[in-house]
Formats: sequence, C-alpha cells, structure tokens
Amino acid sequence: MIVFVCKFLHLISLFIAGGGGIGNAVIQSIYKKEGKIPEPHLAKSFRILAFISLIAVITMWVTGVVLAILIYGGFDLGWYFHIKLIGATLILLSVLYVNLHLKKCSQNQIPPNQQLMKYSASIARLGLILAIAGAIWTFV
Ligand code: HEM
Repeated sequence: MIVFVCKFLHLISLFIAGGGGIGNAVIQSIYKKEGKIPEPHLAKSFRILAFISLIAVITMWVTGVVLAILIYGGFDLGWYFHIKLIGATLILLSVLYVNLHLKKCSQNQIPPNQQLMKYSASIARLGLILAIAGAIWTFV
C-alpha cells in the first residue's frame, strides 16, 4: 500500500511540476517577445506556480527515496539511476533558485531577471530529460 501511494504521488508530482514549468515558460516567453513586464497579478501567479512546482519536486524526492528503499533496498541501482538522480538534483536546484529569486523580486518590487529565469528553465528542462530517460533506462 505504501509503495502504491508513493508511486502514485511520484508520478502525479511529475505531471504537476511539468505542467507548472511549461505554463510558466509559455507565458514568460510571450511577455518577453512583446517586451512587456508581467503585471502584479500575473507576477503573483508565477510565484504560486513556481511554489507548487517546488512542492511537487520535493514530493518526488521524498517518494523516490521511499520507493528506492522499499522496493530495491537502497540506491545501488546502477549508472542510469545516478543519471536520473543528477537530473533530479538539477531540477530541485533550479526550481529552488527560481522560488528564491521570485520572492526577493516581489519583496523589493522589481521585475524578475529574464536572463536568470531563462537559464534556470533550461537547466530544469535538461534535468527533466535526464531524470525521465534515467528512470526509463533503470526500470525498463
Ligand atoms: C525529480 C525528478 C524525477 C523524475 C522526473 C522521476 C521520474 C520517474 C518516472 C517517470 C518513473 C517511472 C519509471 C517506470 O516505472 O518505468 C520513476 C520511478 C521511480 N523513481 Fe523517480 N523521478 C524523479 C526523482 C526521483 C528521485 C529523487 C528518486 C530517488 C532518490 C526516485 C526514485 C524512483 C524509483 C525508486 C522509481 C521506481 C519505482 C518502481 O520500480 O516502481 N525518483 N521516476
């Protein structure tokens, strides 16, 4: 039962974090192309979406650790699993960074640094590819 719940949360969190990331990226790129700064309500939506993504990624880590221990007795699952963990670490760090940056910007009432947001999104995307490909290679 614990394995079922963790696996369910692991996969649903993947959907939530991925959806938040794509939504944010599409809206930000449209604003950037138009040369506009998001108005306060939209900026608040970005912060909420980024926070939901952070919770989802933390949930993936917690449930992933529980699954690895309960099903496989640890993390010694080969190289591909380590690639998956490197990807998961990139995602966690970039989502954490975006959350801190957006919080600081809202406190100081300044717009987010578009360049930093773009790089963070690229790192998160690379991490997602590594994590999903690593999961497929490991558990196929
Ligand atoms: C944050 C990025 C992550 C992504 C995108 C991700 C993605 C996935 C996917 C798609 C699966 C299903 C693979 C399959 O059944 O074929 C999976 C399973 C799994 N993940 Fe993750 N994962 C992430 C993080 C983690 C972390 C941090 C850990 C452990 C420290 C972990 C441990 C596991 C384990 C043990 C399974 C296999 C469960 C089983 O055999 O049923 N995952 N992951």
